[in-house]
Parts: sequence; C-alpha cells; structure tokens
Amino acid sequence: MIDTPEPLVDRLDAEASCTLLSTFPPEFRFGTATAAYQIEGAVKEGGRGESIWDRYAHTPGLIFHGDTGDIACDHYHRWEADFDLMAELGIKHYRFSLSWARLQPSGRGPLNPVAVEFYRAQLQGLLDRGIAPLVTLYHWDLPQVLEDEGGWPNRNTAYLFEQYARLAAEAFADLAHEWVTINEPWCISILGYGKGEHAPGRHCMADAAAAAHHVCLAHGLAVAAMRQVAPHIRLGVTNVITDVVPASNDPADIAAAGRLDASSNKLFLDPFYTGAYGDDVLAVYPELSQHIQPGDLDIIACDTDFVGINHYHRMIASNDPSNPKGWIERHAEPATTSFGWSVLPESLEAILGRVSREYTTLPIFITESGASYHDYVDPDGMVVDTERVAYLRGYFDAAARALASGVNLQGYYVWSTFDNEEWAMGYEKRFGLIYVDYRTQTRIPKLSAHWFSREIAAHADLSTK
Ligand code: FCB
Repeated sequence: MIDTPEPLVDRLDAEASCTLLSTFPPEFRFGTATAAYQIEGAVKEGGRGESIWDRYAHTPGLIFHGDTGDIACDHYHRWEADFDLMAELGIKHYRFSLSWARLQPSGRGPLNPVAVEFYRAQLQGLLDRGIAPLVTLYHWDLPQVLEDEGGWPNRNTAYLFEQYARLAAEAFADLAHEWVTINEPWCISILGYGKGEHAPGRHCMADAAAAAHHVCLAHGLAVAAMRQVAPHIRLGVTNVITDVVPASNDPADIAAAGRLDASSNKLFLDPFYTGAYGDDVLAVYPELSQHIQPGDLDIIACDTDFVGINHYHRMIASNDPSNPKGWIERHAEPATTSFGWSVLPESLEAILGRVSREYTTLPIFITESGASYHDYVDPDGMVVDTERVAYLRGYFDAAARALASGVNLQGYYVWSTFDNEEWAMGYEKRFGLIYVDYRTQTRIPKLSAHWFSREIAAHADLSTK
C-alpha cells in the first residue's frame, strides 16, 4: 500500500465515500488504462518502425505545441518502476496496448523479436505484481508503410491486421487472456481519414467510410484468427460512445440528433452487434455500401465475449440546413474539463442503458472514462486534483446506478494511469491519476490516485469478507 503524504490524508478523509464498498459486487474490476504511443516513447529503439502517429506528429502544425510521442513517459525504459508504483497503489487491472509498428515494423512478416521480448516481459511483470492485463491490439499506431499502401481505406489493411492478430495471439496468449482487438473505430476512421484531426490527417469522408468498414472487418477477421490459435482467450472490441441529445424538442433537432448518433455511435454498434448497417447510417455515409462485400457483415458481427465502451462526453445536435452535414453539434454544459468536455455522469448511465437495451447483454467493460484538468505541482510537491476525485466519484456512482438498473457492467478502467501524450493535443491535456513531470520523468501520484487506491482497497476487502 502506498504511503499517502500527510497533507493529503485530511483531504482524503474529507473525500471519504463508500460508493465502491456498498454498491459494486466483489468481482467487479476497477483498473486503469494507457496506450502504447501515448506512454512508451523510444520510437526508434528495438527495431520499431515508423507509425502514422510518428509521421503526423513530425508534420509541423498538426500537434499542439509541436509535441511528439518520441519520449512521452519514457515507459519503454521505465516500465518496471511504473508497474511497481501501480502495484503500490493497489491497481489490479490494467489495460494497455501493443504497438503494431513495434511488433511488425513493415506491417507484415514475422514479429520483431525484440518487441516480442519487450511485451512478454511487460506481461510477466504485470502478472508478477498481481495485475491482470487487458491487452489492446490496435490503439491507432498503424505502420506508416501500410498507410503508404492506402491505409485503412484499403481493404488489404484488414487482411494484414488479421495476420498481425494471429501472430500476436501466438506470441502472447499464454500470458494475456483478455484482448480488445481495436480501440475506437470512430476515431481511426472519421477523425483520421475524414476530419484530418488525427493521423494520418486525411480529409475525405468517402475514405473515412471505407476505413470504417475495413476497421470493422479487421476486427471480425482478427477474432476468428485469434480464436483459432488461442481458443481460451476472451475478446471484444472497444467503441467510444457519445451521449447525443437534441438541442430542443423541435422534430428537426431530434432528427439532427438522430443523424449525429448514426454518424458516430450506430456506425459501429449496428454492424458489430446486429450484423447490419442501419438505413440511417447508410444515409449519412452513402459511400459505405460500395465497400461491403458478401459475407462481410457475418464476419464483423462475430461472437465476442465482452463489449468495450469508452465514454467521455455529451454532444448536443441542432438542425442546420446551411451546414453541409445538415446539422451542427456542440459540447453540452457543464464543460468543465480542460478539454471543454462535459461533466455529466448521467450521460454514462444513459449510454450504458442504451447499449444494453438496444444492442447486447454481453458483459460490458468501461475500457476508458476519465477527465483532463489543469493539474500542477503545488509548492509542497503535491498535485491536489480535487476536480478529478469529484469527477470519478460522480461517474462511479453513475456506473453503480447502471448496474443496479440491470446493465451487465463488469468493469471500469479509468483513463489514464499516467499523464501522457494526448494525440493532437500533445502534453497539454493531463488525464492521469499519476502526474508526469516530462522534464525529469518524475511520477507523482495525484490526490485522485490516493483516493482511487483507498477505494479499490476497500472494494478488495469486500471479497475477503
Ligand atoms: C480516447 C482515446 C485515448 C485517450 C482518450 C482521452 O479517445 O482512446 O487514447 O486519448 O480519448
């Protein structure tokens, strides 16, 4: 158990809550999450190849402040100390990702043995510390060579992903029993290929639609391939689900919210869990149809073992015929995180209820949920992030309500374990429970880390009673 600095103890006593103690079943898992590009650094070490995020980050003007993931949290060199700190905090569940560009620098062929050794050591290191890994196979770092061949809009990328998935299962499934195939198909396709806000920075909605379908296909192909070589593993895919509400009761705004929902949530929930794209989805992305080949949807709607949900905010949609899309969207209030994202725990409850009512009764893991704030080290050397404690308390309560209402929720991974490289926002956004001073690579558990540590300890006590 970690020693909490004296001044924080009083704060924690003031923050005391018994949410977890009383409401979550003993087997419910609380954990934290990261992704390779955001924490590893060492982008040119160990035979790692270039990924689309390296290329994007090194293109002037695309990432806030000119930041890159070249060093990030230097987790590649510091992972043992990082895992020690997580173990001290009592963290028992950890979601992290493998870098495709590290494992298959040229996007094909045998896995890079240095990278295999690195991730096997990490997996063993987690198990040795009593931390159960949930491994994400793809959290956005496509090998650049595959982007040069067309990237996700090229159907062949899905088949190359299938090969990567099979090799990864062969290499790691003895140590890793639970896997997320792909993180947030919406960000990969729409932000990456449509809006250009993420790597590879393309601005073409037709390409984005093609990418969306091929990412779905890649998931289905990967599940089949991984099950073949490692029948014991549990698999799922993670989608980011936004709580979309209309700006008013005006039928035009309600229809606009429907279109926004189709363009983001239904675009993936429909094919993964119903085996068909809804007409409303096809109306928003007419180009989709030309990429669907016979049999694709059966592959995509394959059996999985759990549903991964990332959730961050509520968006409000209004009808706007003057806009090329026909609607406009804005962040709901109160938008008090440093990202301008809403803090509305009821949104989490709403989307969990919706997924389990409309799509699936499979176990659900919240694979990411968290908030960025303007955290800083105070003169006493501490990071007192009371906002994040309040945020987590509210969102854990919402998860408890969802559970009580019958949602098959089985776990909650807080984003993120550490402050890290927040994609196009660089180091400006801090989501961690653990503060990272990037100049010295010092780690400082924030108040929220100590709070979380107490909560999970109390929760763990439940199972021993
Ligand atoms: C999600 C990403 C994750 C992190 C959070 C804030 O969309 O999956 O890597 O950047 O947003």
